[in-house]
Amino acid sequence: MTAQSASLAGLDLRAEIDRLRKEKNAVILAHYYQKPELQDIADFVGDSLELSRKAAETDADVIAFCGVKFMAEVAKILSPQKTVILPDVNAGCSLEDACPPEKFKAFREAHPDHIAITYINCSTEVKALSDIIVTSSSAEKILSQIPRDQKIIFGPDRHLGGYLSRKFDREMLLWPGVCIVHEAFSETELLKLKAQHPGAPIAAHPECPPTIVDHADYVGSTSGILNYAKTIDADTLIVATEPHIIHQMQLAIPGKTFIGAPGADGNCNCNICPYMALNTMEKLYISLRDLTPQIEIEEGLRLKAKESLDRMLGMASGTVGMGDLGAR
Ligand code: 13P
Ligand code: SF4
Repeated sequence: MTAQSASLAGLDLRAEIDRLRKEKNAVILAHYYQKPELQDIADFVGDSLELSRKAAETDADVIAFCGVKFMAEVAKILSPQKTVILPDVNAGCSLEDACPPEKFKAFREAHPDHIAITYINCSTEVKALSDIIVTSSSAEKILSQIPRDQKIIFGPDRHLGGYLSRKFDREMLLWPGVCIVHEAFSETELLKLKAQHPGAPIAAHPECPPTIVDHADYVGSTSGILNYAKTIDADTLIVATEPHIIHQMQLAIPGKTFIGAPGADGNCNCNICPYMALNTMEKLYISLRDLTPQIEIEEGLRLKAKESLDRMLGMASGTVGMGDLGAR
């Protein structure tokens, strides 16, 4: 037991978090990859696009973000007047790590005739260097609005970029980042599992490599996969994304069986995101109590990053077009 957890022993964390949420006028937002107890206590659970929209429209004074750092930063970019807290400030993302801003800037400068369409899983600095941000649920709608002769850099996820490139039959310059979680699924083990459950469809996140996505009956964001699970007739679904989303499936469709796609060692549910896993009920309680760690972003940088995020929100809802991207 750590000194911190010892000092919290005996506390009813659920009740305490509830009390603090009211006292501080806080909203708790959680991603589907969070531990079940964090999903259960959240005011809203969603995919990256839905969480961005919630962060932009909330009238709470405090946003407690149970997710990873880039998600909490998006909340701060869109709602700068709010206090945004992240239970564990070390909750990063392998895609963000794969795309250092200075390298991305140099790459952009080497390709001045390309626009940069960038996955939301990146730093605020990279957002500020990008033209349009996308999430896995908004990428197809946004890409379909870009003229076919417009050259595109897509980063930092080469698997999402590759999936879009194949689907739209459109070449893009792909940044070589990957999600370590989705990269870890094994095609051999997936096919073995499918042979055991021949009637079970496979739903995959587009962060998976083509060796997984090519076997999928459905490819989409976490919310897309959850919605797909609600529509299938089959009684079993194989889920090729971070397995904590299965919690929401079990709540929404209790009669069905959901099996996490296996990693290379053949174990199901072994693709847990180590960054998302850093957040706990204890840390959420402490961050609400002390209003720390807080997300802070320098105003000039925030405004630059907001441009590419606003373009995503507008294009995804169909209210604005691509517009004049201007110089970055
Ligand atoms: P979505 O919830 O937008 O599908 O994103 C998945 C993800 O990997 C978040 O880190
Ligand atoms: Fe990043 Fe992958 Fe974890 Fe999502 S699941 S936060 S993309 S490492």
